[in-house]
Amino acid sequence: MKNILVTGACGQIGSELVEKLREKYGNENVVATGHKTPPTEKMRKAGPFEYIDVVRKEEIANVVKKYDIGTIYHMGAILSAVGEQKPQLAFNVNLIGLYNVLKVGREQKLERIMVPSSIAAFGPDTPKDNTPNETILRPTTMYGVTKVAGELLGDYYFHKFGVDVRGMRFPGIISSETLPGGGTTDYAVAIYYEAIKNKRYTCFVREDTVLPMMYMPDATKALMDLAEADVSKLKHHCDFNVNAMSFSAGELAASIKKHIPEFVCEYKPDYRQEIADSWPRSLNDSAARKEWGWKPKYDLPAMTKDMLEKLSKKLK
Ligand code: SER
Repeated sequence: MKNILVTGACGQIGSELVEKLREKYGNENVVATGHKTPPTEKMRKAGPFEYIDVVRKEEIANVVKKYDIGTIYHMGAILSAVGEQKPQLAFNVNLIGLYNVLKVGREQKLERIMVPSSIAAFGPDTPKDNTPNETILRPTTMYGVTKVAGELLGDYYFHKFGVDVRGMRFPGIISSETLPGGGTTDYAVAIYYEAIKNKRYTCFVREDTVLPMMYMPDATKALMDLAEADVSKLKHHCDFNVNAMSFSAGELAASIKKHIPEFVCEYKPDYRQEIADSWPRSLNDSAARKEWGWKPKYDLPAMTKDMLEKLSKKLK
């Protein structure tokens, strides 16, 4: 088997994905890459690390050649909230970056490219509950625009050039290892940190805001399972809905309060409320379940218990 490269390896998903991939395929066979954020000592000591800017195609091409890469997990991206403040940066990193990865994949005949899409591919016209896989994709954020275009580009590369590109539409991802950077769903991570540190949190969306969410162990498993799925069983490629749990910000606070009774959550919605309001509340993921056996493990109570245990140790 050829080696694996992860872009965005120092980010929220990348950092945990690299660990899982190294456990499964061997430390030396998984090359972590990042743009500016330096790797943790743990990541750097465990296996190879390189700096690349995905906007520069030759930088991707050189590392792919150097390490005899067969699969790329392309996790490097600008998220929704930063994307609204820096739309040109989001366009360059998310779209030009992905296009570069796809072109390198074609030129160097990669076996597989994994690229996550997002619930941000949907928009205010999309049905909000049990959102179908095939539905209206009219996002109102630059991040969402790049995600829809990314899904289409990936499918185009699969059908036109035979590059095996795969991906799913992730909901908000919650995790305890690395903080997310610049997303609309970041409150669902920050609330746990603040509950432990200060017993208070000021949430930037309304109490009744419901969004689909997923705990990190399910997210890394989804990526690795889809990467290994039998291609002949896949009717979709880059646009699988994956659902795990849905809750309001108020329900999230209440689940934390069960463990930390003195926890107080206040709500002061800012510009991110409008982004959250444009996204679905829950997704129909029957295509993912049928085509590659997707099944999440964590619900809200199980995730809250695990998050609080992990963060209490980490923040001691
Ligand atoms: N978590 C992402 C964001 O909030 C959505 O994919 O931007």
